[in-house]
Amino acid sequence: MTRIFGISGSLRRASFNTGLLRAAADLAPEGVEIEVRSIAGVPIYDGDMEAEHGLPAAVVALQEGLAAADALLLVTPEYNNGIPGAFKNAIDWMSRPPAGRDLFRGKPVAIIGASPGNFGTTLAQTHWLPVIRTLGMEPWFGGRLMVSRARDVFDEAGTLTDPATRERLAEFLQGYARFLRRPLD
Ligand code: FNR
Repeated sequence: MTRIFGISGSLRRASFNTGLLRAAADLAPEGVEIEVRSIAGVPIYDGDMEAEHGLPAAVVALQEGLAAADALLLVTPEYNNGIPGAFKNAIDWMSRPPAGRDLFRGKPVAIIGASPGNFGTTLAQTHWLPVIRTLGMEPWFGGRLMVSRARDVFDEAGTLTDPATRERLAEFLQGYARFLRRPLD
């Protein structure tokens, strides 16, 4: 079983991005399990808090989940043409020792996202690139999924209902799964 650790970068109840991640878990190819995780409960990074109390429980739980997985799937909203601060903040916390950077180094990662606008998180996805490079991750660039005009393809609860978008997501996941199963030398 290939395990993909999926994190949605939105805290909103009816989030399109959390809905996209739930749909990814539903549509995971045979032999692949996608975990649906959230950044809820992660406080704003504060070096004094870290020095005095160590890593918050929500951060340790995310670190443990990623450590146990074969790969990461970032499901990113876009705010002001970039990564939402809360999502970047969660990854910043996760990169802290003792587990920290070693968790990310060499781990495969793919990025998808959804927005109500016309460009479907193109710029937020691009904004992640220096972050995953700095963390030493192994990005999969073999497919792209930017879900635009999200109000037309998700229902009010944030469930991805549009068959064509579900098909694009399934194809994306099949490509990522093929990459993850490639023979390593
Ligand atoms: C947005 N939104 C947005 N959308 C987009 O496509 N490009 C952008 O630059 C922005 N900027 C932006 C800034 C701020 C502060 C907010 C709150 C929102 C809209 C955003 O895509 C929309 O709120 C989505 O619904 C967020 O994703 P979730 O929460 O549905 O997953």
